[in-house]
Amino acid sequence: MNSISSNKSSHLKGNLNVPGDKSISHRSLIIGSLVNGRIEINNLLESEDVIATANALKILGVQINKLNNKWEVFGGGIGNFYGSGYVLNMGNSGTGARLLMGLVAGSDIEATFVGDASLSKRPMKRITIPLNKSGARIKGNTNNLPINIKGNKIVLPIEYKSSVSSAQVKSSILLAGLSSLGKTTLIEPSLSRDHTERMLKFFGANISTEQLDDKSWKISLDGVPELKPLNITIPGDPSSAAFPIVSAIITPHSKVKIMDVCINKLRIGLYETLIEMGANIEFSNKRELNGELIADISASSSELKGITVPKSRASSMIDEYPILSIAATRATGDTVMEGVEELRYKETDRIKTVCEGLSKIGIDTNETKNSMIVKGKGPKTPIIGGVEISSNLDHRIAMSFLCLGLITEESIVVKDTDTINSSFPFFIDKMKKIGANLNLL
Ligand code: S3P
Repeated sequence: MNSISSNKSSHLKGNLNVPGDKSISHRSLIIGSLVNGRIEINNLLESEDVIATANALKILGVQINKLNNKWEVFGGGIGNFYGSGYVLNMGNSGTGARLLMGLVAGSDIEATFVGDASLSKRPMKRITIPLNKSGARIKGNTNNLPINIKGNKIVLPIEYKSSVSSAQVKSSILLAGLSSLGKTTLIEPSLSRDHTERMLKFFGANISTEQLDDKSWKISLDGVPELKPLNITIPGDPSSAAFPIVSAIITPHSKVKIMDVCINKLRIGLYETLIEMGANIEFSNKRELNGELIADISASSSELKGITVPKSRASSMIDEYPILSIAATRATGDTVMEGVEELRYKETDRIKTVCEGLSKIGIDTNETKNSMIVKGKGPKTPIIGGVEISSNLDHRIAMSFLCLGLITEESIVVKDTDTINSSFPFFIDKMKKIGANLNLL
């Protein structure tokens, strides 16, 4: 396992492309395997998580090839998977595991899902309970990998009310529902990222979203749609763009521009928050790509003030709280993050890991089960650094603390950084290109 040291950097400058969006990449492979015919995918994120999904689909019989600078997937149509005894190793990827469980549940397949130490601890009941209702049988442990699922040829059209807003739960249920002869309905408390809905619509499915009187959201899908084979280009990942953007905001004399980033309104809560905190951020060249809105995002050094980030914004920035916490160290006043309990069930308990890491560096924090406070030092007070942080097998924890190391007086060393490859291949090279002083140890 490698370590990376992050060292004080004087200014960050330049234009950058970040890798393709992780959520959309997983979905392009999975939904691509269900269309009637061959599709090409441009700018697929070639990270460990997405490759785990591609490999799992190949094991299930899907023909997927990497061409020169794109990928091709030969979709067999809905309901064309069969076989048993498959073992699908999803590595570190919660999205891959949960979405493919939905696909397996809606197919004539029996498969066992396994994953790494981090994924094996993450809760799966949120997926196995609804999939069981739609007819899938789950043997043995229903909450932690390894999990064995036997899909059902006849998928029942369910209406399921989820207590959490989770795009993984929603997508898993919708993917199973594709094979159902009826309508599958999912209700979630607030709207989570809607890439599955957008992509299914793009390929021709009939899917609708409405807000109910109690403010929750209802998503309904008509089963067995004919999905047309259309090519897809994956936009840059706003969750990855967050690292160079926050680095530029906290590092003096910096200005960066990240090109072609997905700015789906259910993904840009971090950017709205940073703007409220006083950050100089601009979106330009807005346009549409395969049913998703994209833009170039510019950011420059800014003076930030602490704010309260409401629970209602949590779904739209769920992966960005670690990097927001890094920006918050430089703010004047407290940054309060409400309604963030879901962070406890990510690749690591992100509330605990962020608070422990920041305390090591001398930043005061406070945590409850459902909230987190970072007490900012303001723009002038030096932050000493000079510590080692463990990634806890969490890519976003690793990258967040490496961004903080760019402004601390002494270096921050992050251990076990291989995990960064699960979402952001060539992170060091890209960050160095804009002037970040990072070194692989
Ligand atoms: C994702 C959904 C989110 C997010 C994850 C990717 C997706 O998880 O944290 O990185 O692609 O559907 P939850 O749906 O569990 O919140």
